[in-house]
Amino acid sequence: MDRMDVIETMAGVSLPGHLHTSESLRAASSFQFRDSDVLIVTYPKSGTTWMQEILTLIYDKGDPHVAKSIPNWARAPWLEHTYFKEALQESAEPRLLTTHMPFQVLAAALRQSKAKVIYVARNPKDTAVSFYHFHKMARFLPNPGSFEDFLLRFLDGTVQYGSWFKHIKGWLGQREELSLFYITYEELHQDLRCSIKRLSTFLGCPLLPDQVEAIEQHCSFSSMSQNAMANYTLVPHEIMDHSKSPFMRKGTVGDWRDHFTPLQNILFNKVYQEEMGASDLRLQWTL
Ligand code: A3P
Repeated sequence: MDRMDVIETMAGVSLPGHLHTSESLRAASSFQFRDSDVLIVTYPKSGTTWMQEILTLIYDKGDPHVAKSIPNWARAPWLEHTYFKEALQESAEPRLLTTHMPFQVLAAALRQSKAKVIYVARNPKDTAVSFYHFHKMARFLPNPGSFEDFLLRFLDGTVQYGSWFKHIKGWLGQREELSLFYITYEELHQDLRCSIKRLSTFLGCPLLPDQVEAIEQHCSFSSMSQNAMANYTLVPHEIMDHSKSPFMRKGTVGDWRDHFTPLQNILFNKVYQEEMGASDLRLQWTL
């Protein structure tokens, strides 16, 4: 399959053919979850890699050995990716899994288990900015064109991976049905220590104070940027070109202010209000 090929999920979302096939999507939607599984769910660029690192370290009680010797995509593989079967550590307990899929794709499979779901969301303005820069470096994604063009496609949900709005409404609409823990990128950023403690309580994996401290230190932006097992520098240049934009780019909150024009901001707020106005999802950022 060509690097730039695209395939579609049954939810009508297009995805890079570099990582997905109809078979890999079929396998994801019929995956047999165990009650002990922990599934990280994100729209791309919302803090996926950060959460993979935090959970790895929580289960390793702050010992960085695994986080520094196994790539994130093998520690917490994406259910929908073509290499998933080979990467999955069947005997691990719990199995850490990741997905960017909209809820509908995994609904039937997930409802048959009590697997834990951790949904990480990020202010969609910063998500759009991060996604734009990612399009420049990830050669399996189309050229994003101007930021203006990209933003319009992000808002109407025609970017790859689909609509941010549908993604979050689909998953958070299941809060009562699933064992779902919701946390934002902004909360991780504001108080990583407290976020680690809340996560360890949800996962039933108690930590000593020095273990929490070790995790906090290892999961800082500066430390993760240096970790080849989390910063994607292991990926060949033909697939990710870090000279265009590093994967660990800025790691800040509010970078959208340096990208949006006042008019783009007004349009974004209008679409956000139309899409999210009626929902009571208790989102935790101010636009
Ligand atoms: P930026 O492009 O804004 O820098 P994902 O893993 O879902 O693809 O998200 C990538 C984004 O998360 C990037 O955002 C990246 O820098 C940021 N990120 C990853 N680890 C982080 C950390 N430890 N602290 C802050 N941001 C982090």
